Amino acid sequence: MDRASFGSKIGAILAAAGSAVGLGNIWRFPYEAGNHGGAAFILIYLACVFIMGMPIMIAEFTVGRRAKASTGRAFGLLANNSKWNFIGMLGVLAGLLILGYYSVVAGWTLEYIIASVTNGFADKTPEDFVAAFQTFSQDPIRPVIWLLAFLFFTHFIVVKGVKDGIEKSAKIMMPVLFILIVVLAICSMTLPNASKGLEFLLKPDFSKVNADVFLGAMGQAFFSLSLGMGCLSTYASYFGSDTRLGKTALSVGVIDTFVAILAGLIIFPAAFSVGIQPDAGPSLIFITLPNVFQQAFGGIPFLAMIFSLLFYVLLALAALTSTISLHEVVTAYLNERFKIGRNRAAMLVTGFCIVTGILSSLSLGAWDAKFFSLSFFDLLDFVTAKLMLPLGGLLVCLFVGWYLKRSVSYEELTNYGLQKATYFPIYMFILRYFAPIAITLIFVNELGWLS
Ligand code: TRP
Repeated sequence: MDRASFGSKIGAILAAAGSAVGLGNIWRFPYEAGNHGGAAFILIYLACVFIMGMPIMIAEFTVGRRAKASTGRAFGLLANNSKWNFIGMLGVLAGLLILGYYSVVAGWTLEYIIASVTNGFADKTPEDFVAAFQTFSQDPIRPVIWLLAFLFFTHFIVVKGVKDGIEKSAKIMMPVLFILIVVLAICSMTLPNASKGLEFLLKPDFSKVNADVFLGAMGQAFFSLSLGMGCLSTYASYFGSDTRLGKTALSVGVIDTFVAILAGLIIFPAAFSVGIQPDAGPSLIFITLPNVFQQAFGGIPFLAMIFSLLFYVLLALAALTSTISLHEVVTAYLNERFKIGRNRAAMLVTGFCIVTGILSSLSLGAWDAKFFSLSFFDLLDFVTAKLMLPLGGLLVCLFVGWYLKRSVSYEELTNYGLQKATYFPIYMFILRYFAPIAITLIFVNELGWLS
């Protein structure tokens, strides 16, 4: 049986960029930047993306395309020893767990789309927005319905397959997303006092930089680029033999960064324009932003409605291309490993995520069980983003840097000598030494051993 593949190089880039661009860029990046002082954080973030993120992405691409297998099997095949599959299995498990709670937040975007249309934001005070968000996110039913809807859309596209589902949807959704985000950023920058927001984003204040800022930026780079669990290595197994791994990684990195910065250009000028501080944390886009839209376009409710509608549509699209990639990692693994049809495999994944998703959603309100003093939602977030991803990234560096034959990496990066890869020695140096040390530091910091 022929292995599925993307139909074109641009399709491959858009699918991978679709995975990378998500809630991480539009929801997490602005509040992380806001909490860590703006421009200085962003500069460090950029360094992390391009110095560490790019090489690790290329390493994941190498594993996937060389093995031509989903991440759960790729390492064993390359090592010729199924014991190495534990690296990929860790990724499959991480994907499954991330999908559970990520879909909850993704589902919220649907509620906010509806609220924008029904003009549920009009005539509200800032306190009303806080109360509305709390009532909604703690409700036992509504978020669950949106979560199920979101998983259903994801399931539907994954079942359609690599070319007709994932690639095609990315080719439609990604351009729409670019247009939306550019339009919104321009609108936001023309608001009165927007320049204060721009200054916050562009003028670095290095006095705020400490170890926490540095390590926060590295963690954000990981999450935003979809690294550390074989998402992009599964996609790379669908790349054609003429796809250039280095160039593709660079394109994905540039697109992902561009979207994150533009999200900042939407949110900060708008927030400063109405005198709201940028460090509200995770609730920034669900509590602060509706308030900002409301006040900024207060005189013209119709404009406020259009602006918020477009924003939440943007967020939902970005989240959808990411949930698709998380779903695909697990579906492809079950499909290949147990030789069950794609439909059945996808059904199992969706079924599992319905359970973990519902539990995550309920754990924010009705279900008050605590695990190590974390709700189930926060537990999944902590275990995946803070433990499993850095560990997965570290293992990929070590596997490709030290275990895999150098010639194999060289062949993949140059497409068997057809292209140049002058960056190869630097790439190898980063994989072998720089990245493992840097990741170990994030890891140690996140476990609180440094503080
Ligand atoms: N990168 C996506 C975002 O920014 C989320 C995501 C998709 C992800 N696949 C992943 C994060 C794999 C870590 C690992 O929202």
